[in-house]
Amino acid sequence: MIEEISETVETDVRLSTAAPVLYENIEESEKKRIQTDINELNRVLGGGVVLGSLVLIGGEPGIGKSTLLLQLSGEFAAKDRKVLYVSGEESLEQIKIRGERIGLKKGDLFLLAETNLERIILQAEKLKPEIFILDSVQTVFSSTLTSSPGTISQVREVAHKVFHFAKTKKVPSFLVGHITKEGSLAGPKALEHMVDVVLYFEGDRDHNHRVLRAFKNRFGSVSELGVFEMRGTGLHAVENPSAFFLKERSREAVGSAVVCTIKGSRPLLAEIQALVSSTLFVGSPRRMTIGLDHYRASMLLAILEKNLGYGFSGEDIYLNVAGGLSLDETASDLGVVVAVISCMKNKPVPPEICVFGEVGLSGEIRSVSQPMARIKEAQSQGFTKIFLPENNLSRIEKREVKGVTLGGVHNVKDTLMNIF
Ligand SMILES: Nc1ncnc2c1ncn2[C@@H]1O[C@H](COP(=O)(O)OP(=O)(O)OP(=O)(O)O)[C@@H](O)[C@H]1O
Ligand SMILES: [Mg+2]
Repeated sequence: MIEEISETVETDVRLSTAAPVLYENIEESEKKRIQTDINELNRVLGGGVVLGSLVLIGGEPGIGKSTLLLQLSGEFAAKDRKVLYVSGEESLEQIKIRGERIGLKKGDLFLLAETNLERIILQAEKLKPEIFILDSVQTVFSSTLTSSPGTISQVREVAHKVFHFAKTKKVPSFLVGHITKEGSLAGPKALEHMVDVVLYFEGDRDHNHRVLRAFKNRFGSVSELGVFEMRGTGLHAVENPSAFFLKERSREAVGSAVVCTIKGSRPLLAEIQALVSSTLFVGSPRRMTIGLDHYRASMLLAILEKNLGYGFSGEDIYLNVAGGLSLDETASDLGVVVAVISCMKNKPVPPEICVFGEVGLSGEIRSVSQPMARIKEAQSQGFTKIFLPENNLSRIEKREVKGVTLGGVHNVKDTLMNIF
């Protein structure tokens, strides 16, 4: 019996073994990208969907994964590309209701409600779609395994079979994966190494904006960001994310500063808010950050204490990036510093001011990348005064930007003197 099995395995191997191919003769599938009509998605994918790639879209329950993929299906189908959308968790009627609500375009879109992996792959091979979508990896099961759907072994088997289908048939395929806030065990985390692209769909459910970001991309940069707004009619691209994230900014609020950060290939303006208040916890005041690195924020506070003589030991300090954004770039340092001081002094930052720059340990302002892109973005949003690292400013050829005063700063002290 064992011999028999190993014999078939050997024949299998002989039949399916690929021969080495000369490097020059290999076709670049990279070039064969399909542009979707959803630009924000193209951007995050690195410029469209690569043929034969497997993309995992992870997100918390209810965030809008099915909506995004159904919209994508509609766009493709309307362009005469055959799409197969398989749902393991919703009935065809349920999907249709969503489709009608979001005004799905008519076209070559096929739906299948099925949870058996083998049957799904069989149907996919029969239909020969140009795009394949499986919603979700946790609800589908392979009958070759005895474990229940959603377990690590099942989830891996599903991803493995879909991966094989995508590669052999050169069909771009999308897998939906649910994750909890903690990043569920049997969820997308276990699949990250198996797929080509991992996208996370995030956003506060209290806010109606959603951010799509790449966590891993074999065909593009991972720092790209797609910004959507969830409406009754589905997900709509936010054409001007800076304006979107600043739209509720109060112009006279103390403890608020606008920074220009770079997210992926585009600049983005964000509002950093600081609240400083006397602590009840003498000896261990609170330090809370939302959307900013906690350690970096503590470091910036220490720099302010050392350089400007402020004492924060009796103060609770809360830092927040408005709109649920998260900033991971050191260029936002200056915004944190300005917001904290604004609150300490109880003086608002004049609304026409925008800042960016990295703050070093001795309080020096260090240069950052792409200063011109940041300046232009701030200009486009109506900011007329920008404080930036002197080292950036001195290297900019055209020091004049129409309607904008540029202020080069050397350290935190002279920045704050300039602003307040
Ligand atoms: N009528 C509506 N108006 C506005 N938004 C709606 C409406 N119906 C649903 N939504 C939005 O769509 C979201 C659900 O989207 P969707 O079903 O695509 O999410 P999902 O990530 O696939 O969820 P699940 O984890 O249940 O599969 C809701 O949380 C809500 O924000
Ligand atoms: Mg869903």
